[in-house]
Amino acid sequence: MVDFSVRIGKVPTMTLRQRLSRILFLGTCGLLLGIAVAGMSIVIEKAYQSPAGRIAASNIGGPYLLTDQDGKPRTEKDFSRSYKLIYFGFTYCPVICPTELQKMTTALRTLPTETQQKIQPLFISVDPERDTPALLKSYVALFDPRLIGLTGTEEQIDSIKKTYKVYATKAAAESGGPDDYSVDHSSFIYLMSPDDRLLALFKTADTADVIAASINEVIRESRP
Ligand code: NI
Repeated sequence: MVDFSVRIGKVPTMTLRQRLSRILFLGTCGLLLGIAVAGMSIVIEKAYQSPAGRIAASNIGGPYLLTDQDGKPRTEKDFSRSYKLIYFGFTYCPVICPTELQKMTTALRTLPTETQQKIQPLFISVDPERDTPALLKSYVALFDPRLIGLTGTEEQIDSIKKTYKVYATKAAAESGGPDDYSVDHSSFIYLMSPDDRLLALFKTADTADVIAASINEVIRESRP
């Protein structure tokens, strides 16, 4: 309040020219601010216009180096010609991971053949300590022959978890040795474009049918 009255008090001492230029300056600032706000509103509105499960703007996805179920090094460039369906989990997961992978591969098989051919399903381990390539190999085969399993060093997995905003942390088991633990983790199915933009994010509540319908729609509209 004090500062405000002081500033008001100063105004009459300004010349007409100073006052005019001040008004002009404030007016210009106001106009620029207005344009900036309007521009931002358009961007935000566009980002949230899409239907449920769909995301038009995000900073998810990026480069990685991992190892597949055959022990072969893999990077994001190996899948740059395909859309990707990605699930992060661990093979020891008793319920959630098998359920979600079943759902993801069922959704994939529900799609028209030509759409299926454009999609690479990936399972990425958040438990690199136990999920060896050999273990992944027998695990992914349970769901779909096209499903590729990826694991890596702890650092490589930490890096991709950051890139995909995945939460996963070791939870101690009630009994047993150091290998007897669970992993608490976030559970989303990511639909990525060939150039690694996030196109959709599916929750555990989304059914295979809902996911398939959404994938169909997103891929039809998306221009890679
Ligand atoms: Ni799980």
